[in-house]
Amino acid sequence: MDRHLFPLLYSFLLLMLAMKALRGHAETAKLNQRPYIVYMGEKPRELVGLPLLVHSELLQKAIGFSNHEASNRLIYSYTKSFHGFAAMLSDQEARKLSGMEELVSVFPSKQRKLHTTRSWDFMGFPLSAPRAPFESDVIVGMIDTGIWPESKSFDDAGFGLPPSRWKGICQSNHNFTCNNKIIGARYYHLQGNISEMDIASPRDSEGHGTHTSSIAAGNLVTNVSLAGIAGGTARGGVPSARIAIYKVCWSDGCSDIDLLAAFEDAIQDGVDIISISIGGYANNYFKDPIAIGSFHAMKKNILTSSSAGNDGPNKFTVENYAPWLLTVAASTIDRKIVAPTKLGNGEEFQGKAVNIDGLDGEMHPLILGKNAPNNSAGDNAKYSRYCYEGTLDGELVKGKVVLCDGLTDGSGPLLAGAVGAIMDIDWVNDDSFEFLLPVSVLESQNIIQVRNYANNTSNPTASIYKSEAVFDATAPYVVSFSSRGPNPLTPNILKPDLTAPGVDILAAWSPLSNPKVPYNMISGTSMACPHTTGVAANVKSFNPTWSPAAIKSALITTAYVMSSTRNVEAELAYGAGHINPLAALSPGLIYDAHEIDYIKMLCSEGYITTILRLVTGDQSSCASTNNGTVLDLNYPTFALQTKYGKYFSTSFRRTVTNVGVSNSTYYAIVNAPSSLKINVKPNVLSFEALSEKKSFSVKLEGDAYETIISGVLIWSDGIHNVRSPIIVYTS
Ligand SMILES: *[C@@H]1O[C@H](CO)[C@@H](O)[C@H](O)[C@H]1NC(C)=O
Ligand SMILES: *[C@@H]1O[C@H](CO)[C@@H](O)[C@H](O)[C@H]1NC(C)=O
Ligand SMILES: *[C@@H]1O[C@H](CO)[C@@H](O)[C@H](O)[C@H]1NC(C)=O
Ligand SMILES: *[C@@H]1O[C@H](CO)[C@@H](O)[C@H](O)[C@H]1NC(C)=O
Ligand SMILES: *[C@@H]1O[C@H](CO)[C@@H](O)[C@H](O)[C@H]1NC(C)=O
Ligand SMILES: *[C@@H]1O[C@H](CO)[C@@H](O)[C@H](O)[C@H]1NC(C)=O
Ligand SMILES: *[C@@H]1O[C@H](CO)[C@@H](O)[C@H](O)[C@H]1NC(C)=O
Ligand SMILES: *[C@@H]1O[C@H](CO)[C@@H](O)[C@H](O)[C@H]1NC(C)=O
Repeated sequence: MDRHLFPLLYSFLLLMLAMKALRGHAETAKLNQRPYIVYMGEKPRELVGLPLLVHSELLQKAIGFSNHEASNRLIYSYTKSFHGFAAMLSDQEARKLSGMEELVSVFPSKQRKLHTTRSWDFMGFPLSAPRAPFESDVIVGMIDTGIWPESKSFDDAGFGLPPSRWKGICQSNHNFTCNNKIIGARYYHLQGNISEMDIASPRDSEGHGTHTSSIAAGNLVTNVSLAGIAGGTARGGVPSARIAIYKVCWSDGCSDIDLLAAFEDAIQDGVDIISISIGGYANNYFKDPIAIGSFHAMKKNILTSSSAGNDGPNKFTVENYAPWLLTVAASTIDRKIVAPTKLGNGEEFQGKAVNIDGLDGEMHPLILGKNAPNNSAGDNAKYSRYCYEGTLDGELVKGKVVLCDGLTDGSGPLLAGAVGAIMDIDWVNDDSFEFLLPVSVLESQNIIQVRNYANNTSNPTASIYKSEAVFDATAPYVVSFSSRGPNPLTPNILKPDLTAPGVDILAAWSPLSNPKVPYNMISGTSMACPHTTGVAANVKSFNPTWSPAAIKSALITTAYVMSSTRNVEAELAYGAGHINPLAALSPGLIYDAHEIDYIKMLCSEGYITTILRLVTGDQSSCASTNNGTVLDLNYPTFALQTKYGKYFSTSFRRTVTNVGVSNSTYYAIVNAPSSLKINVKPNVLSFEALSEKKSFSVKLEGDAYETIISGVLIWSDGIHNVRSPIIVYTS
């Protein structure tokens, strides 16, 4: 062997090894990559070059990528309504990038979760309510799972052409068609493949988006019910309004990348209001796509109405808490859905569940899941008392009603051949679920009675009935699942803002999700949000120039007062109270706010000038604009976090704008327990013109010996009562 050859061969081998290692490294690096969002603020006045090229260059400069690598990594460029991009990056690469001064924030894209007939009458908004002549000019943007365009709720009979300012499009994949009711529809799945369970189209295969769209702006459809339950007329809050669909949620959730893309299109297309029943948590407003998207929407005079989340009743669970968002909790309506069950001894219980079918009054043998373990299931057999799938014995359970010590979707009993199930719930049972077979969900004390009966009777029997709607005099109260405040990021801004119906709501559905039910009944803050969207759109149709804050203020200051008897978390559960659609049309005074007011608040919360300049796209500076604190943001509610057992004394400043009667005088009425002193200065406001503004201060003083002290300020001219809740809470 040539002695020179060896080193050559050797180095070649080394090189091969090194390349293999490198490839291995590249592959591991690829595994470590995940989608990141790079948010750069206001949209560029002019972009020199194509967006993708500009963003590729930024990646090259910041991380040292080759041109090829950088363009491989880019997923999407946002330039229509704000500026930024999405790219596949490792955490280390993202850190390098976040040092660049032309960026606001760099954050990993997360997957988010999705969080009615009678409901409008219950809210005091009858069919005969006044309608703005231009309601059909209002365009409601729904960011959700898509829509089922063939539903009667979206028929366009009687609708003229879309408003001429509309710039949206209709993506017609998979036989999807728009009409003069659904005037725009887009779908987003910018990263990864669309799974077989989903449809690459704005068409809704889930049902959620069809449901929320029909609650906000569905047509009047008479004689709808869920298999005869809760029959009536289905209608949206603004039945003549147009709908634009932005589908971002799929069977695996809703990604931040898609959410941001939907916001930028909705803003650019020209929607008047955005409804989003999706949530998540972020510790910085500019690392949250819903907060970012809704901020830029607000700059374009578009209000975003959002759901508070379904993680209650614990405190600090509220989502979508940016002060420019409208944040909606969920409450009950006066019609509750019950699924009665009857035992062989004649005892009857008013259980909960949405049963489309019952057992027709036939009595069936009753067996405890505990006494029917599946002996072929090994260790899992011991969980038969919970009726988990596969744990029950088919022979023992077949044709019987099975008692389960817990809540499941019913797949265990169904698989084992049961005809029905009685389930136990160990938390507050205030909404009804649908199950795979007839079910009655009972509270624990009733379950004990059923268990005793089953144990002491030689041939115990039971029957389960089809669900029925019954009157609920305790309504409305905020349901246990509705997320509660305080606001986890800005403790002195009250969230949620208000509450709206979100329990057992009947609305349009997707036949791909359930072909048997064109109208389905589901619960969630997801349902409360579009109710509020509908009311806000109605206020907007009468007052087309009002800012998002003005519309929010109208809704918040006119809400029905709620009681803390059942909702001990008080304002932290229901905000200002229950939405009142008619009163919201004449608020008298409004607490208005614009971009500059939110910027001042962000300055006081530690967001720095360089970041805020990118977001505003101007030369505003914290030093020159900010002297206030978050307490001075012109919010229509007052919240103060303080320490338990400590004396507090704090002043808020506010400005109200007259939108009621030109010559009017408002008097301040305050009410609070003796532990809270409220001093309003001045306490009389006289107006001589519409749009006139008057300022005042509110001083709160006291000793915090309760976790929540609730008070109220009402500005009254004898006609309008402009009501703001005041809450002092301890942490
Ligand atoms: C498209 O949808 C319409 C309405 O549902 C239906 O009648 C038609 O058969 C569909 N066509 C295709 C090709 O799926
Ligand atoms: C997406 O689909 C393509 C083509 O079918 C396939 O090569 C690729 O592996 C898929 N990607 C993922 C993440 O599943
Ligand atoms: C309402 O619908 C039910 C079932 O869908 C039907 O039997 C009934 O005739 C309808 N009533 C009216 C007034 O249309
Ligand atoms: C019982 O367990 C076996 C083994 O896991 C399973 O194949 C069977 O489906 C189970 N039976 C029922 C009714 O779930
Ligand atoms: C029924 O059985 C339970 C035990 O499951 C027992 O505590 C109870 O006293 C019995 N009641 C009657 C009326 O026999
Ligand atoms: C049923 O009752 C008997 C006596 O009445 C008792 O020994 C047994 O523990 C009870 N079983 C259950 C499941 O409660
Ligand atoms: C705000 O603060 C600056 C400097 O701290 C001061 O010069 C200015 O007068 C203040 N403005 C108001 C309105 O209080
Ligand atoms: C409002 O009051 C002013 C002065 O008090 C008066 O000049 C004006 O005519 C009044 N306007 C209306 C509409 O009553």
